[in-house]
Amino acid sequence: MKTILTTSPAEAASIVRDGGIVAFPTETVYGLGADALNPSAVDRIFQAKQRPPDNPLIVHVGDLSMLGKLADNVPISAATLVEKFFPGPLTVIVPRSPEVPDVVSAGLPTLAVRMPDHQLALAFLRECGTPVAAPSANRSGRPSPTNWQSVVADLDGRIDCVLQGTQTDHGLESTVVDCTVDPPIVLRTGALSVESLRDVIPQIRLENAPEELLARSPGTRHRHYAPDAKVVLIDGPDRIPPQSLNAAYIGLDAPDAEVKLADLLVARTVEQYAFELYRFLRQCDERGLEIVYCQTVREEGIGRAVMDRLRRASES
Ligand code: TXA
Ligand code: MG
Repeated sequence: MKTILTTSPAEAASIVRDGGIVAFPTETVYGLGADALNPSAVDRIFQAKQRPPDNPLIVHVGDLSMLGKLADNVPISAATLVEKFFPGPLTVIVPRSPEVPDVVSAGLPTLAVRMPDHQLALAFLRECGTPVAAPSANRSGRPSPTNWQSVVADLDGRIDCVLQGTQTDHGLESTVVDCTVDPPIVLRTGALSVESLRDVIPQIRLENAPEELLARSPGTRHRHYAPDAKVVLIDGPDRIPPQSLNAAYIGLDAPDAEVKLADLLVARTVEQYAFELYRFLRQCDERGLEIVYCQTVREEGIGRAVMDRLRRASES
């Protein structure tokens, strides 16, 4: 299959309307989209990504009025969060309407919905005229793509089209909140901070018990966000061995000048750390590096999601 590269949202959308699968930018990471109401198109996403069939997808909308059609009913907590944060880096889980095919949410009675805060994504979704089911546009188990070149590296020849935009704004995925329970539960931390969510619904819970998380969000069972290089978490750059010629470092504090590394990224803020993390991990793999030392950050704001992804990437 030849993968078409385009900057035209209209061209990309026409491929979705014809049952194709198209990668597109959002403010978080690139997604791989198909018409959510066309089960065979959605099935092709699972094949292209080699995604386990029990891992449900997020449905993306370009227009809030679609939510009513996708949800069986919209819980008050979901309506409140949608009102405050859509469009934005938030995914809400609601009861699924029978009109949405089973394959989209891996047979679960619920559905994940989000509206990206991104001009090109919204133009594309509006041209599609149908809700678009889309996981991140990486091969399963690889870091999510934050630029179109990473999508091509993982999926060239396996998907119909890539809508080319710039590097994504946040660099980490959306925050996923289950609104089918009261109080709602954060199933995945992400680009929207838990503090911002609690400003609106103070009772929102963070799910830490692994059994409960597994039952509610099957995707969390699978290995995620892992580069080929070994990811080692460190408190600070003073923990890097002085001769680390086949290793890289990413963090907020700069290592001493005498530390020899193959690659280095010192972020000014935790936001910039998040923005660069996946791209940096991929770059380390391209260069065949063996170890990436990653500095840990405080678990607040987007730092919570950075730590979640670092922990997952460091599990072997
Ligand atoms: O920022 C994002 O969320 C990106 C962009 C493309 O929108 N998408 C993304 O999708 O990260 P994906 O498929 O890589 O991650 C979706 C997560 C998975 O952990 C999945 O298990 C969970 O959301 N999820 C989806 N539907 C669910 C449902 N009905 N119930 C519980 N968890 C669900
Ligand atoms: Mg993903």
